[in-house]
Amino acid sequence: MLTGELIRLRPLEPEDADTLWRWHNDPEVTRWLTADHAESLARIRERFAARKPNSYGRASFAIESLAVGTLIGTCTLRDATPEQGRAELDIYLGEKDHWGGGYGTDAMRTLCRYGFDMMRLHLIALWVVVGNEAAIHVYKKLGFQVDGRHRQSFRGQDGEWHDEYLMSLLEGELL
Ligand SMILES: CC(C)(COP(=O)(O)OP(=O)(O)OC[C@H]1O[C@@H](n2cnc3c(N)ncnc32)[C@H](O)[C@@H]1OP(=O)(O)O)[C@@H](O)C(=O)NCCC(=O)NCCS
Repeated sequence: MLTGELIRLRPLEPEDADTLWRWHNDPEVTRWLTADHAESLARIRERFAARKPNSYGRASFAIESLAVGTLIGTCTLRDATPEQGRAELDIYLGEKDHWGGGYGTDAMRTLCRYGFDMMRLHLIALWVVVGNEAAIHVYKKLGFQVDGRHRQSFRGQDGEWHDEYLMSLLEGELL
């Protein structure tokens, strides 16, 4: 368990599948997330039951609110290799009533600390759609910087193309 001030990060459990399926079918939650093909509830349950354990190459966590002890989101460090010392980070909160409460910032900080201190990463990178102002605000608040801009790399639910920022945080830069 990794504990922050408002949240704890724990491994995902098979029982989490139904909640994630609900979130994946909420257009407000997925607005700025890369769309995948729709997945049946039965399929996501199977996938979660057969989940591989967390590893250096992919460490996924459930984000739980410490106050109520319920699942509110997920976050992942993926594609890390010890040789490169870099990983990509994904995060979202599926429980919308928790948006704006500081949980995302705390979860990111906790996960980045884990990446730098335990995994000995040198760099954590992420992609974010240019219009996702709240997320960009959170990432900058934690010390992430914009490295570049990918043109029209994200197709929104409105069918429009959006640019994305590549952002990164080096060890020693976490605020
Ligand atoms: C992005 C996300 C993880 C942030 O988590 P959160 O718990 O809602 O964020 P926090 O409460 O920690 O911080 C929100 C900050 O953004 C600010 N903010 C909110 N809306 C904003 C906007 N439209 N423009 C700029 N800043 C905004 C808040 O004022 C707050 O800043 P402050 O702490 O300096 O006051 C969460 O909202 C989420 O999962 N959203 C949907 C999925 C998503 O976009 N994931 C990221 C994909 S890259």
